[in-house]
Amino acid sequence: MCGIVGYIGNNDSKEILLRGLEKLEYRGYDSAGIAIMNDNGVHVFKEKGRIADLRSIVDQSVQAHTGIGHTRWATHGVPSQLNAHPHQSASSRFTLVHNGVIENYDLLKREYLQGVTLKSDTDTEVIVQIIELFMNDGLTVKEAFRKTLSLLKGSYALALLDEEDNETIYVAKNKSPLLVGLGDDFNVVASDAMAMLQVTNQFVELMDKEIVIVKKDEVTIETLSGDVMTRAPFTAELDASDIEKGTYPHYMLKEIDEQPLVIRRIVQKYQNEQGALTIDPEIINAMNETDRIYIIAAGTSYHAGLVGKQFIEKIANVPVEVHISSEFGYNIPLLSENPLFIFISQSGETADSRAVLVEIKEMGYKALTITNVPGSTLSREADYTLLLHAGPEIAVASTKAYTAQLAVLAILAEVTGKSRGIDLDFDLVHELGIAANAIEVLCDSKEEIEAIAREYLATTRNAFFIGRGIDFYVGLEGALKLKEISYIQAEGFAGGELKHGTIALIENGTPVIALATQESVNLSIRGNVKEVAARGANPCIISMKGLEMEEDRFVIPEVHSLLTPLISVIPMQLIAYYAALHRECDVDKPRNLAKSVTVE
Ligand code: F6R
Repeated sequence: MCGIVGYIGNNDSKEILLRGLEKLEYRGYDSAGIAIMNDNGVHVFKEKGRIADLRSIVDQSVQAHTGIGHTRWATHGVPSQLNAHPHQSASSRFTLVHNGVIENYDLLKREYLQGVTLKSDTDTEVIVQIIELFMNDGLTVKEAFRKTLSLLKGSYALALLDEEDNETIYVAKNKSPLLVGLGDDFNVVASDAMAMLQVTNQFVELMDKEIVIVKKDEVTIETLSGDVMTRAPFTAELDASDIEKGTYPHYMLKEIDEQPLVIRRIVQKYQNEQGALTIDPEIINAMNETDRIYIIAAGTSYHAGLVGKQFIEKIANVPVEVHISSEFGYNIPLLSENPLFIFISQSGETADSRAVLVEIKEMGYKALTITNVPGSTLSREADYTLLLHAGPEIAVASTKAYTAQLAVLAILAEVTGKSRGIDLDFDLVHELGIAANAIEVLCDSKEEIEAIAREYLATTRNAFFIGRGIDFYVGLEGALKLKEISYIQAEGFAGGELKHGTIALIENGTPVIALATQESVNLSIRGNVKEVAARGANPCIISMKGLEMEEDRFVIPEVHSLLTPLISVIPMQLIAYYAALHRECDVDKPRNLAKSVTVE
């Protein structure tokens, strides 16, 4: 979702800001803007659409060493030039960019801004107008900023310019991510280290409700009550090449192809010197002390959680419930006596999941976050973290994070099981190696999979994915991948449920992609395929070697039956990718979606 960058130093800030915003494009946005400040004042350029559109309106002749920039994903007010950030106060003295949602903005508007004509529909403009109001009342800029922050309810990451001081950027955050990056004679601000890797890999984490005064040679962090904090920087362990597409046409395809490498890397990271899988003993203790695990996640991560439940229950014998985070917060089930919460989140920033984390922490429960982003909010605020080691995932559609989540959940289940005296009848390291090889084989079968996408999905209005058991969960993920990037109305169904209603949707030619990777349900899912075929559907059976039959359209290599989701999801991802290409959709940046969903 929205992204922020800022630069203060000796170089011209325009290009650094624009390049930074380009690196944040993956988060999803519908308008963008920059404000640059020099001795002649603040110059604001903003535009609806892509960074390329913004670039075309920036006056290249304006040189400025200080600036802030923003990508906006509309929440308050439609995507438009007027609602794009930065926003300015009535006199234009203050200029602000903001991520997040101010829940009480309407109240604040009525209480403080009766006499002010607002130019936009945004909650952000309310903040910057109130800052000016307080300054007009005689407060210093810092005091006005601080007082305004104390009124805000909701989430924010803010970067503020004061036209009368081109040596300072004022920064603050609450619940939304924001980092300060350090350089020699310059400093930067960014929602994500990726945006500013171009100039530094040294970053300082900010805590909620701190005020940060960023100058080119100094960064001062203060609490809301004015105490100065010292905090050592960390090195962002990202390689610039991790965030480039290289020779790939799309990040999504690159990330699909990276999956064998990611699985092998995860195995390595979670192995001890003797080659056995290992996990922080504190986490294993928590897994053993609990009487029930509650997995909380959204979207693709929720689908990984459904498979994770199978792993943990079958391998470690601990009961698991899986919940959608946006539902859980308002609808907390009767909890067991000693619950352990596992948050699964690629970004570690999903606001719906974070809201649950805050709530269950208040209730005194322990939480483990499984995330791809070290230092992310969900990681910092949980008791424990397990990292995915998948490398940055840039395409909005999650692919390698899903398989990484499955691999980490399988390892967590195995190590927990072992600690409880449950020995697997298979060697997980070996089986994950086989799975990585199988993914490689599938990634080499792109032509065949592209042909399936062309045949079944090039023009269809809708498509259904069916499966039973663990295949049903992969079907849900296949449907999500397809709908989010190709805009085909796609749904995943449990094979046995079809006759209870869904089968009414089947028309002549409706594509039905059926997964058959489990011996125990192989015949029954094929029975469901016959039912839909009899009603005119165009079925496409994807089965696993050893279970295949003549009518199957595609056969995946054989892997351990519990690990099939790691493999069967690959054709799902590739089918969605090629369907989106055939329909000329923007694969990496699908409409209306954001990579990091930082609003509830
Ligand atoms: C789908 C997708 C989303 C995310 C969801 C949760 O491809 O990426 O459904 O899985 O928004 O995001 P994280 O995992 O970052 O919490």
